[in-house]
Amino acid sequence: MNKISIIGAGMTGSTAAHWLAERELADLVLVDVVEGMPQGKGLDMAEAMPIIGKDVEIVGSNDYAATKGSDIIIITAGIARKPGMSRDDLLTTNAGIVGQAAAETLKYSPDAIYIVLTNPLDTMAYHTLKTTKLPRERVIGQAGILDSARMRAFVAMETGVSVENISCYVLGGHGDEMVPLTRHSNIAGVPLRDYLPADRLEAIVNRTRKGGGEIVNLLKTGSAFYAPSLACTQMAEAILKDKHLIVPCAAYMNGEYGLNDMYFGVPVQLGRNGLERIIEYKLDDEEKAMFEKSAAAVKDTHEALKKLVKI
Ligand code: NAI
Ligand code: 2OP
Repeated sequence: MNKISIIGAGMTGSTAAHWLAERELADLVLVDVVEGMPQGKGLDMAEAMPIIGKDVEIVGSNDYAATKGSDIIIITAGIARKPGMSRDDLLTTNAGIVGQAAAETLKYSPDAIYIVLTNPLDTMAYHTLKTTKLPRERVIGQAGILDSARMRAFVAMETGVSVENISCYVLGGHGDEMVPLTRHSNIAGVPLRDYLPADRLEAIVNRTRKGGGEIVNLLKTGSAFYAPSLACTQMAEAILKDKHLIVPCAAYMNGEYGLNDMYFGVPVQLGRNGLERIIEYKLDDEEKAMFEKSAAAVKDTHEALKKLVKI
């Protein structure tokens, strides 16, 4: 059986465990600093397995030793946004937490593939890569699956068409400057721009960009967790099943899209070795300008990280 360790057993971490267990993808370990909480959630989930007939071992721990031999490490540890906060406001606190999680897990699972969720996402993925010194194939950030799913959901709400017929691609950094690519998005092959009036499409693009904040303002005490954790689950499944699935993820840029030494949301092919390939779209001038704006925002946060920690 494969093994996945989830660092941070809060809302996203424990919900990811729930989705993963339901799919019987791997034995699961939940690690958190709060005493008893990951153990309690792990035991509760283990007790649910007989009801759905899934043979998955799920344990919780406060000790990284429990993660030994993991195939995948999912990092969700850190603080989440409250109303009025941007993702970048989390940088100082989460840099320390993610740095520690990356270093400790690597000791016990030198062959693992990392999926990073903690915000500010692109910079926490960059931090994980620099801390572990792993090749970029093995450190991937989750953002684009979530942002694209939000856009797909909003298009479905607007049109009444099944979500299954709707393909949307939201690339760029996981922040307010993210890049919903309407020209590359479609409903059953019909370009979104031909299907929807321009003002409705613009409203959907704006709602997508602010999708995380919309949930924070409703919840008031934290941020989204069902969709983000399911996005991590899709990534883990693509990796463990060697699916060669193309999904938007945050990847380390090595010249693609003219970007270097930074994480950015791009279409990525995922298989058993992690990131197999980055797909480069042909962008028009308008899209290029949006990419540049988003990349500049991500670079700023990367620079802020470099002032905080030695990487
Ligand atoms: P949460 O507060 O429910 O859970 C975070 C957990 O991390 C807590 O249980 C906390 O005790 C734990 N933790 C703190 N320090 C730790 C340490 N040193 N070692 C291990 N565990 C530690 O927060 P939630 O909602 O699960 O969000 C987690 C992170 O994921 C946040 O930074 C949030 O902004 C981010 N996020 C990112 C998304 C994305 O698309 N990239 C989507 C949703 C959330
Ligand atoms: C989101 O987009 C908080 O980044 C998280 O919901």
